[in-house]
Amino acid sequence: MSVLITGGAGFIGSHTAVEFLEAGYDIVVADNFSNSSPKALERIKEITGKEFRSYEVDLCDKAALEKVFVENPEIDSAIHFAGLKAVGESVALPGKYYYNNLVSTLNLVELLAKYNAKRIVFSSSATVYGMPKTVPIREDFPLSTTNPYGETKLMIERILSDVYNADKEWSVSILRYFNPIGAHKSGLIGENPRGIPNNLLPYIAKVALGQLPCLSVFGGDYDTKDGTGVRDYIHVVDLAKAHLKALGRAEKVKSVEIFNVGTGVGYSVLDIVHAYEKAAGIKLNYKIVDRRPGDIAICYADPTKAYEVLGWKAEYGIEEMCADTVNWTKKNPKGYDD
Ligand code: UFG
Repeated sequence: MSVLITGGAGFIGSHTAVEFLEAGYDIVVADNFSNSSPKALERIKEITGKEFRSYEVDLCDKAALEKVFVENPEIDSAIHFAGLKAVGESVALPGKYYYNNLVSTLNLVELLAKYNAKRIVFSSSATVYGMPKTVPIREDFPLSTTNPYGETKLMIERILSDVYNADKEWSVSILRYFNPIGAHKSGLIGENPRGIPNNLLPYIAKVALGQLPCLSVFGGDYDTKDGTGVRDYIHVVDLAKAHLKALGRAEKVKSVEIFNVGTGVGYSVLDIVHAYEKAAGIKLNYKIVDRRPGDIAICYADPTKAYEVLGWKAEYGIEEMCADTVNWTKKNPKGYDD
């Protein structure tokens, strides 16, 4: 039996691959490396001392993806990370996002059914809650989106629910991630965005390394404790472990289940800046600028359901999240391109 990990060379995919290998699973990775590096796969092998097969394949190419199933008939489930994820780019290039994220998922679902591997854990996002009226956010809150990226996540959630409703042999587990940060303790794998980062932690890391001059803090006038935006940052290793629990549950229960994956604690941008300064032993150059269009003030999870149903809860705090990011970025100042 083995688990197909799509996007397994990416930030969350690579950390999840490590957790699955260490838990004794066989895995097969499919990744087109459009926003990831094959070097991550070598690092996964270095951390775990385990071998696995990997394919450079675009999931939109159904024939190429089918070859993965034909050559690995033991695949009985998938963890589906592969997808485009830049919010701003999705607004500029909606067709690219709808085509890529939806066609890839439809191909995957069709092949999982054809090869009798009707079990999937899907990477969704807290973005499907749109502009939540209250926090903490529960899974039964109303859903809406503010950009094409988010819309693809919501559409895929609905597709997967319909797939289960039509065929009760499926197990579908939908994980709504909050803000994953941090890196593996080894410093061998971590987040490696191409170009100028959109997200807070990769941006801070580049300022800390002297690769960017100054962090722009988007908005200092939100209705929060210090005026800056509040998010639920979660260590990527905790997040990876949630996938193990979700697949374990999907092996036993045929249904569609949705879980928030967050810590339940909100930190402001300035909390993160100060925690990073402490972890790195430096002062960060930052300035407060206008709000970023589309940002919300406060977003954090109620993770109770994941604890009650999956027995999962986040273990790492903000200090470790920052310390592990510092460790990864110091050891790999150019990401995997060194
Ligand atoms: N921020 C800055 N400066 C930056 C980058 C971010 O101040 O250079 C702030 C943002 O305004 C926000 C916080 O840092 O308050 C976090 O921003 P990120 O871009 O890191 O993350 P978001 O919460 O905006 O987005 C994340 C994921 C999306 C997902 C969204 C909603 O990146 O994929 O959460 O769940 F859609």
